[in-house]
Amino acid sequence: MSLSLRGNKAADSILRFDLETFFEAVQNLYHKEFNPDGTFPLNVAENKLCWTELKTKMQEITAREPIPDWVSRYTSAMGHHTVRQVIANFLSRHLTGCPMNPDNIGMSAGATSVIEMTSMVLGDPGDVAVFPAPCYPVYKADIGHKAGVERYDLITHHELSEIQNGPALQISHLEKTLEDIHSQGKRFRFLVLTTPDNPTGGAFDFDQLITIADWCIKKGIHLIVNEIYGLSLIDTSHPDLREDYPNHPKFKSFANIMAEKQSDFLHLWYAFSKDFGASGFRIGLVYSHNKKFLKAYGNFNAPNMVSNYTQWVFERVLKDDDFITHYIKTNQQRLTESYATAIQVFRELDIPYIPAVGSLFIWIDLSEFLNDQTQAAENEFWLELYRKTGILLTPGEGFGHSKKGQFRVVYPCVPLEDLKVALGRFKDFVNMRRNIAVI
Ligand SMILES: Cc1ncc(COP(=O)(O)O)c(C=O)c1O
Repeated sequence: MSLSLRGNKAADSILRFDLETFFEAVQNLYHKEFNPDGTFPLNVAENKLCWTELKTKMQEITAREPIPDWVSRYTSAMGHHTVRQVIANFLSRHLTGCPMNPDNIGMSAGATSVIEMTSMVLGDPGDVAVFPAPCYPVYKADIGHKAGVERYDLITHHELSEIQNGPALQISHLEKTLEDIHSQGKRFRFLVLTTPDNPTGGAFDFDQLITIADWCIKKGIHLIVNEIYGLSLIDTSHPDLREDYPNHPKFKSFANIMAEKQSDFLHLWYAFSKDFGASGFRIGLVYSHNKKFLKAYGNFNAPNMVSNYTQWVFERVLKDDDFITHYIKTNQQRLTESYATAIQVFRELDIPYIPAVGSLFIWIDLSEFLNDQTQAAENEFWLELYRKTGILLTPGEGFGHSKKGQFRVVYPCVPLEDLKVALGRFKDFVNMRRNIAVI
């Protein structure tokens, strides 16, 4: 055996169930002129709608400004102090609406690293972290690989209709989960909420968050809120969409609750990967008032630091507040336009979906097409859809939910014009499957 036990286990496992098919799909991407029969991989959480604007801004900066000397040196493992100051100002002005202290920020190479480092600091091997289902599949690897923390998928509902107005998590669910984990002789160490959520796009109501925060503090359980989609918001007053939002909470940052409670048990995650369509830059951060947590985080973080050049480029971009304000607005307009286009098709076809307040996703229910309600049937259908239409959705497997046949659509990872072609193919497929002749 040439590898460690750990290495062998990693070599024998798969990173993501849909990765192989994704790599196949990207070899044959749709192009209006050159490959009209090509594929649409709508399964990876990327926003490509505003990269041109961000790229132009970065090119202007890097062509014009001299690189400061600190970029070439070792700097704080938590991020360079000027960068953290600029990020604190940015967060305060655009995401949280409350003062943010740069000393409470720890930066790592993307949210993935932040999740891993946080798990290392908070959890021991065998401890349990709880996630309301359905939930981002990769959390399992991020909390498990190094820290050895186990993922618990908390089921709060079965049908999409039960979470039309946002996540259904209540204290009774948490009490029951705590009991269940205790009965297994384990420790409920932290709860992770993603808002807006991946994959449902729902946002936690602010009062609901306060209640959950109070419960966690009382029980000595850490509560971490991941706001990685906090600026990827849908315009819920859009005339074609507003009927879907009769009673929806508006997104309001958890940082406000942290500021009020000043508790060692409350933490926030953010990254520039999604709201800025910049997943390749690898910039994520944790925000916490817990000084001991931050000290430990800094001592673990050296292998996960964000490159200083990347920090500098982003610092310069974030400093131009007019650009940022315009960028966020444009991004939200484009997200809304693409989202509304997709929703129109799902409504027309009577496909159940959850109205998203934000994120890059639409969570849909295609269970009517499954031969039976099993994981195997779900995977079979997912592949059939891809083989017949070239559309690759994110499969439900790994999201940890009880109902089979639910899939995630990543709508901003292709331009709107291409999305329309994909939706046209989807429509034909659904009609064909329902035995309705395509005219
Ligand atoms: C909820 C959530 N957290 C974390 C990540 C990972 O982000 P990053 O690319 O910054 O590591 C993702 C990516 O899809 C995500 O959806």
